[in-house]
Amino acid sequence: MNTTASSAPPRLGKVLVLHGPNLNLLGQREPHLYGATTLADIDRALTDRAERADIVLESFQSNHEGALIERLHAARGEDFDFLVINPGGLTHSSVALRDAVLASDLSFIEVHLSNVHAREPFRQHSYFSDKAVGTITGLGAMGYLLALDYIVAALSDNLDPGKA
Ligand code: DQA
Repeated sequence: MNTTASSAPPRLGKVLVLHGPNLNLLGQREPHLYGATTLADIDRALTDRAERADIVLESFQSNHEGALIERLHAARGEDFDFLVINPGGLTHSSVALRDAVLASDLSFIEVHLSNVHAREPFRQHSYFSDKAVGTITGLGAMGYLLALDYIVAALSDNLDPGKA
């Protein structure tokens, strides 16, 4: 699934959102863990917030590790300022996706809908967290919006409380 969420010229910045395997089933899949919100709902909410902040946002979901890697390779030439990534199960297994994220040279925020630290032990290791600007885990769909809020503040150079 590849949705170009906004085609307006970049003003504040450009953000890539990557959703890993099985996240296309959000809303149907284990709702007690992942909630009732669909991926389309999440992308729509992100798009709305991005447009209000004059940010161009592109969202991409794949169930294929290679497709996610290829998207990151392409992103190298596409002037993105920031990456938001929920690698799904690849969080806990994929050196190759980690390498592709690092090769993109993008600052990134790692998002998980569920609290991975309160689940099975194998979910408590991430191949991404040590390189992330930050991680948001357990706050459901809102985690994506909080990540975008951080990016808006960072791109606005508005993170210093003294400037507020
Ligand atoms: C997830 C957590 C992962 O452990 C799991 O494999 C997922 C979703 C989350 O958003 O909570 O697919 O990344």
